[in-house]
Amino acid sequence: MTRSNSDFRDRNAATVAAVFALAAFALATVTAAPRSSTASPKPDAAASREAFLQVYKVFVSPRCQNCHPSGDAPLQGDDSHPHIQNVKRGKDGHGVYGMRCDTCHQSANLAGDHMPPGNPKWALPPPEHKMVFVGRMPAQLCRQLKDPKQNGGRSLQQLFEHVSSDDLVGWGWDPGDGRTLPPLNRADTSAQMKVWIDGGAACPE
Ligand code: HEC
Ligand code: HEC
Repeated sequence: MTRSNSDFRDRNAATVAAVFALAAFALATVTAAPRSSTASPKPDAAASREAFLQVYKVFVSPRCQNCHPSGDAPLQGDDSHPHIQNVKRGKDGHGVYGMRCDTCHQSANLAGDHMPPGNPKWALPPPEHKMVFVGRMPAQLCRQLKDPKQNGGRSLQQLFEHVSSDDLVGWGWDPGDGRTLPPLNRADTSAQMKVWIDGGAACPE
Protein backbone atom coordinates (compact mmCIF):
# COMPACT_ATOMS: atom_id res chain seq x y z
CA MET A 1 0.00 0.00 0.00
CA THR A 2 2.71 2.45 0.95
CA ARG A 3 4.61 1.37 -2.12
CA SER A 4 1.69 1.95 -4.55
CA ASN A 5 1.03 5.31 -2.93
CA SER A 6 4.56 6.46 -3.52
CA ASP A 7 4.40 5.06 -7.09
CA PHE A 8 1.36 7.17 -7.64
CA ARG A 9 3.12 10.27 -6.25
CA ASP A 10 6.15 9.63 -8.48
CA ARG A 11 3.99 9.20 -11.56
CA ASN A 12 2.10 12.34 -10.67
CA ALA A 13 5.30 14.32 -10.19
CA ALA A 14 6.61 13.02 -13.50
CA THR A 15 3.44 14.09 -15.30
CA VAL A 16 3.59 17.57 -13.76
CA ALA A 17 7.23 17.87 -14.76
CA ALA A 18 6.42 16.72 -18.29
CA VAL A 19 3.60 19.22 -18.60
CA PHE A 20 5.86 22.00 -17.44
CA ALA A 21 8.62 20.96 -19.80
CA LEU A 22 6.16 20.90 -22.68
CA ALA A 23 4.79 24.31 -21.77
CA ALA A 24 8.29 25.75 -21.52
CA PHE A 25 9.17 24.21 -24.88
CA ALA A 26 6.01 25.60 -26.49
CA LEU A 27 6.70 29.04 -25.05
CA ALA A 28 10.29 28.98 -26.27
CA THR A 29 9.15 27.93 -29.73
CA VAL A 30 6.49 30.64 -29.90
CA THR A 31 8.83 33.40 -28.75
CA ALA A 32 11.83 32.22 -30.76
CA ALA A 33 10.07 31.54 -34.06
CA PRO A 34 9.29 35.10 -35.18
CA ARG A 35 12.71 36.30 -34.10
CA SER A 36 14.62 33.75 -36.13
CA SER A 37 12.46 34.13 -39.22
CA THR A 38 12.25 37.94 -39.53
CA ALA A 39 15.33 39.51 -37.91
CA SER A 40 18.32 40.43 -40.09
CA PRO A 41 21.64 38.73 -39.33
CA LYS A 42 23.52 40.04 -36.33
CA PRO A 43 25.91 42.87 -37.30
CA ASP A 44 29.41 41.47 -37.50
CA ALA A 45 31.75 44.10 -36.02
CA ALA A 46 34.93 42.14 -36.74
CA ALA A 47 34.03 41.73 -40.42
CA SER A 48 33.03 45.39 -40.48
CA ARG A 49 36.42 46.56 -39.17
CA GLU A 50 38.23 44.25 -41.57
CA ALA A 51 36.24 45.63 -44.52
CA PHE A 52 37.02 49.20 -43.48
CA LEU A 53 40.74 48.45 -43.71
CA GLN A 54 40.21 47.44 -47.35
CA VAL A 55 38.28 50.63 -48.09
CA TYR A 56 40.97 52.62 -46.28
CA LYS A 57 43.67 51.37 -48.68
CA VAL A 58 41.69 52.85 -51.56
CA PHE A 59 40.99 56.18 -49.85
CA VAL A 60 44.66 56.83 -49.12
CA SER A 61 45.82 55.73 -52.57
CA PRO A 62 47.15 58.61 -54.72
CA ARG A 63 44.12 58.81 -57.03
CA CYS A 64 41.87 59.58 -54.09
CA GLN A 65 44.07 61.34 -51.56
CA ASN A 66 45.52 63.81 -54.11
CA CYS A 67 42.20 65.67 -53.91
CA HIS A 68 41.84 65.13 -50.17
CA PRO A 69 45.01 66.86 -48.88
CA SER A 70 45.51 68.32 -45.42
CA GLY A 71 46.76 71.65 -46.76
CA ASP A 72 45.18 73.93 -49.35
CA ALA A 73 47.07 72.70 -52.43
CA PRO A 74 45.91 69.67 -54.41
CA LEU A 75 48.54 66.95 -54.82
CA GLN A 76 49.88 65.32 -57.98
CA GLY A 77 51.36 62.01 -59.05
CA ASP A 78 51.90 58.70 -57.30
CA ASP A 79 54.24 60.45 -54.84
CA SER A 80 51.48 62.96 -53.98
CA HIS A 81 53.66 66.06 -54.37
CA PRO A 82 52.05 69.51 -54.10
CA HIS A 83 50.40 70.69 -57.34
CA ILE A 84 52.80 72.84 -59.38
CA GLN A 85 51.85 76.36 -60.53
CA ASN A 86 50.92 77.22 -56.93
CA VAL A 87 47.34 75.97 -57.39
CA LYS A 88 45.19 76.55 -54.28
CA ARG A 89 41.81 75.36 -52.96
CA GLY A 90 40.12 78.79 -52.91
CA LYS A 91 36.80 79.68 -51.25
CA ASP A 92 34.73 77.03 -53.06
CA GLY A 93 37.36 74.36 -53.74
CA HIS A 94 37.54 75.35 -57.43
CA GLY A 95 40.71 77.42 -57.12
CA VAL A 96 41.47 81.12 -56.86
CA TYR A 97 40.85 83.88 -59.39
CA GLY A 98 42.99 83.32 -62.48
CA MET A 99 43.88 79.79 -61.33
CA ARG A 100 40.54 78.07 -61.44
CA CYS A 101 40.67 74.30 -61.83
CA ASP A 102 38.67 74.39 -65.07
CA THR A 103 41.25 76.66 -66.68
CA CYS A 104 43.30 73.50 -67.22
CA HIS A 105 41.06 70.59 -66.19
CA GLN A 106 38.43 69.93 -68.86
CA SER A 107 35.33 67.76 -68.57
CA ALA A 108 37.29 64.65 -69.66
CA ASN A 109 40.89 63.43 -69.44
CA LEU A 110 43.25 64.75 -72.10
CA ALA A 111 45.33 62.03 -73.78
CA GLY A 112 49.03 61.70 -73.02
CA ASP A 113 51.30 61.51 -69.98
CA HIS A 114 51.21 64.55 -67.68
CA MET A 115 48.22 66.04 -69.46
CA PRO A 116 45.50 67.45 -67.17
CA PRO A 117 42.95 64.85 -66.06
CA GLY A 118 39.34 65.97 -66.40
CA ASN A 119 35.83 65.80 -65.00
CA PRO A 120 33.00 68.39 -64.99
CA LYS A 121 33.10 68.55 -61.17
CA TRP A 122 36.92 68.77 -60.85
CA ALA A 123 37.68 70.56 -57.54
CA LEU A 124 38.89 70.09 -53.97
CA PRO A 125 36.35 69.81 -51.14
CA PRO A 126 35.46 73.30 -49.89
CA PRO A 127 37.31 74.90 -46.92
CA GLU A 128 34.33 74.39 -44.52
CA HIS A 129 34.73 70.63 -44.76
CA LYS A 130 38.10 69.69 -46.18
CA MET A 131 37.52 65.91 -45.93
CA VAL A 132 41.22 65.24 -45.34
CA PHE A 133 42.39 61.71 -46.18
CA VAL A 134 46.17 62.35 -46.32
CA GLY A 135 47.96 61.24 -43.14
CA ARG A 136 44.84 59.91 -41.45
CA MET A 137 45.24 56.63 -39.55
CA PRO A 138 42.48 54.04 -40.19
CA ALA A 139 40.63 54.63 -36.90
CA GLN A 140 40.77 58.40 -37.39
CA LEU A 141 39.54 58.33 -40.99
CA CYS A 142 36.80 55.88 -40.02
CA ARG A 143 35.38 58.21 -37.35
CA GLN A 144 35.74 61.25 -39.60
CA LEU A 145 33.84 59.61 -42.48
CA LYS A 146 30.93 58.75 -40.18
CA ASP A 147 30.67 62.30 -38.80
CA PRO A 148 28.05 64.31 -40.72
CA LYS A 149 29.77 67.53 -39.58
CA GLN A 150 32.89 66.48 -41.47
CA ASN A 151 31.51 64.47 -44.39
CA GLY A 152 29.22 67.05 -45.97
CA GLY A 153 26.13 66.01 -43.97
CA ARG A 154 25.95 62.49 -45.41
CA SER A 155 24.29 59.44 -43.90
CA LEU A 156 26.15 56.13 -44.18
CA GLN A 157 23.89 55.20 -47.09
CA GLN A 158 24.72 58.47 -48.87
CA LEU A 159 28.41 57.88 -48.22
CA PHE A 160 28.03 54.46 -49.83
CA GLU A 161 26.23 55.93 -52.84
CA HIS A 162 28.89 58.60 -53.22
CA VAL A 163 31.64 55.99 -53.41
CA SER A 164 29.68 53.53 -55.56
CA SER A 165 28.15 55.96 -58.06
CA ASP A 166 29.48 59.54 -57.91
CA ASP A 167 31.03 60.51 -61.22
CA LEU A 168 33.99 62.43 -59.75
CA VAL A 169 34.90 59.53 -57.43
CA GLY A 170 34.62 57.34 -60.52
CA TRP A 171 37.44 59.29 -62.14
CA GLY A 172 39.77 57.55 -59.64
CA TRP A 173 39.25 54.31 -61.57
CA ASP A 174 39.57 56.00 -64.99
CA PRO A 175 42.43 58.42 -64.30
CA GLY A 176 43.91 58.88 -67.76
CA ASP A 177 47.31 57.95 -69.18
CA GLY A 178 50.27 57.21 -66.94
CA ARG A 179 48.42 57.04 -63.60
CA THR A 180 48.15 53.94 -61.41
CA LEU A 181 44.79 52.61 -60.23
CA PRO A 182 43.62 52.25 -56.60
CA PRO A 183 44.40 48.81 -55.03
CA LEU A 184 40.77 47.59 -55.30
CA ASN A 185 38.45 48.17 -58.25
CA ARG A 186 35.25 50.13 -57.76
CA ALA A 187 32.92 47.13 -57.42
CA ASP A 188 35.12 45.56 -54.73
CA THR A 189 35.52 48.87 -52.92
CA SER A 190 31.73 49.33 -52.87
CA ALA A 191 31.22 45.74 -51.71
CA GLN A 192 33.68 46.20 -48.83
CA MET A 193 32.00 49.47 -47.94
CA LYS A 194 28.67 47.66 -47.73
CA VAL A 195 30.15 45.03 -45.39
CA TRP A 196 31.53 47.87 -43.26
CA ILE A 197 28.14 49.61 -43.05
CA ASP A 198 26.03 46.44 -42.62
CA GLY A 199 28.30 45.38 -39.76
CA GLY A 200 27.57 48.63 -37.92
CA ALA A 201 30.32 50.82 -39.48
CA ALA A 202 32.77 49.64 -36.82
CA CYS A 203 36.10 51.44 -36.58
CA PRO A 204 39.51 49.76 -36.13
CA GLU A 205 41.05 50.26 -32.67
C1 HEC B 1 47.60 75.77 -64.78
C2 HEC B 1 46.87 74.58 -65.07
C3 HEC B 1 46.21 73.86 -63.89
C4 HEC B 1 45.35 74.39 -62.96
C5 HEC B 1 44.85 75.82 -62.82
C6 HEC B 1 44.97 73.29 -62.11
N1 HEC B 1 45.59 72.14 -62.52
FE1 HEC B 1 45.52 70.32 -61.61
N2 HEC B 1 46.80 69.55 -62.99
C7 HEC B 1 47.29 70.22 -64.07
C8 HEC B 1 48.09 69.30 -64.88
C9 HEC B 1 48.81 69.63 -66.18
C10 HEC B 1 48.06 68.05 -64.21
C11 HEC B 1 48.76 66.75 -64.62
C12 HEC B 1 50.11 66.67 -63.98
C13 HEC B 1 50.80 65.37 -64.22
O1 HEC B 1 50.13 64.36 -64.49
O2 HEC B 1 52.03 65.34 -64.10
C14 HEC B 1 47.24 68.27 -63.02
C15 HEC B 1 47.02 67.28 -62.07
C16 HEC B 1 46.18 67.43 -61.00
C17 HEC B 1 45.93 66.42 -60.03
C18 HEC B 1 46.63 65.07 -59.95
C19 HEC B 1 45.84 63.88 -60.29
C20 HEC B 1 46.58 62.64 -59.84
O3 HEC B 1 45.95 61.81 -59.19
O4 HEC B 1 47.77 62.52 -60.10
C21 HEC B 1 45.03 66.92 -59.13
C22 HEC B 1 44.46 66.22 -57.93
C23 HEC B 1 44.71 68.25 -59.57
N3 HEC B 1 45.42 68.54 -60.69
C24 HEC B 1 43.81 69.05 -58.93
C25 HEC B 1 43.57 70.36 -59.28
C26 HEC B 1 42.59 71.20 -58.64
C27 HEC B 1 41.68 70.75 -57.53
C28 HEC B 1 42.67 72.44 -59.21
C29 HEC B 1 41.91 73.68 -58.81
C30 HEC B 1 41.91 74.01 -57.38
C31 HEC B 1 43.69 72.35 -60.24
N4 HEC B 1 44.20 71.08 -60.26
C32 HEC B 1 44.10 73.40 -61.05
C33 HEC B 1 47.10 71.54 -64.36
C34 HEC B 1 46.34 72.44 -63.61
C1 HEC C 1 39.31 65.87 -58.43
C2 HEC C 1 39.25 65.77 -57.02
C3 HEC C 1 38.75 64.53 -56.34
C4 HEC C 1 39.17 63.23 -56.51
C5 HEC C 1 40.17 62.73 -57.54
C6 HEC C 1 38.50 62.44 -55.52
N1 HEC C 1 37.68 63.22 -54.76
FE1 HEC C 1 36.51 62.65 -53.21
N2 HEC C 1 35.72 64.51 -53.07
C7 HEC C 1 36.08 65.58 -53.86
C8 HEC C 1 35.20 66.70 -53.57
C9 HEC C 1 35.24 68.06 -54.25
C10 HEC C 1 34.31 66.25 -52.57
C11 HEC C 1 33.19 67.05 -51.92
C12 HEC C 1 31.96 66.91 -52.75
C13 HEC C 1 30.70 67.10 -51.97
O1 HEC C 1 30.69 67.22 -50.75
O2 HEC C 1 29.65 67.02 -52.65
C14 HEC C 1 34.67 64.88 -52.27
C15 HEC C 1 34.03 64.09 -51.34
C16 HEC C 1 34.31 62.77 -51.12
C17 HEC C 1 33.62 61.96 -50.15
C18 HEC C 1 32.50 62.44 -49.24
C19 HEC C 1 32.59 62.40 -47.81
C20 HEC C 1 33.88 62.55 -47.08
O3 HEC C 1 33.85 62.77 -45.87
O4 HEC C 1 34.97 62.38 -47.67
C21 HEC C 1 34.14 60.71 -50.24
C22 HEC C 1 33.75 59.48 -49.43
C23 HEC C 1 35.13 60.73 -51.29
N3 HEC C 1 35.22 62.01 -51.79
C24 HEC C 1 35.86 59.63 -51.69
C25 HEC C 1 36.76 59.64 -52.75
C26 HEC C 1 37.41 58.45 -53.26
C27 HEC C 1 37.21 57.06 -52.71
C28 HEC C 1 38.18 58.85 -54.30
C29 HEC C 1 39.05 57.99 -55.19
C30 HEC C 1 38.48 56.83 -55.82
C31 HEC C 1 38.01 60.29 -54.43
N4 HEC C 1 37.16 60.74 -53.48
C32 HEC C 1 38.66 61.07 -55.38
C33 HEC C 1 37.10 65.62 -54.78
C34 HEC C 1 37.79 64.51 -55.24
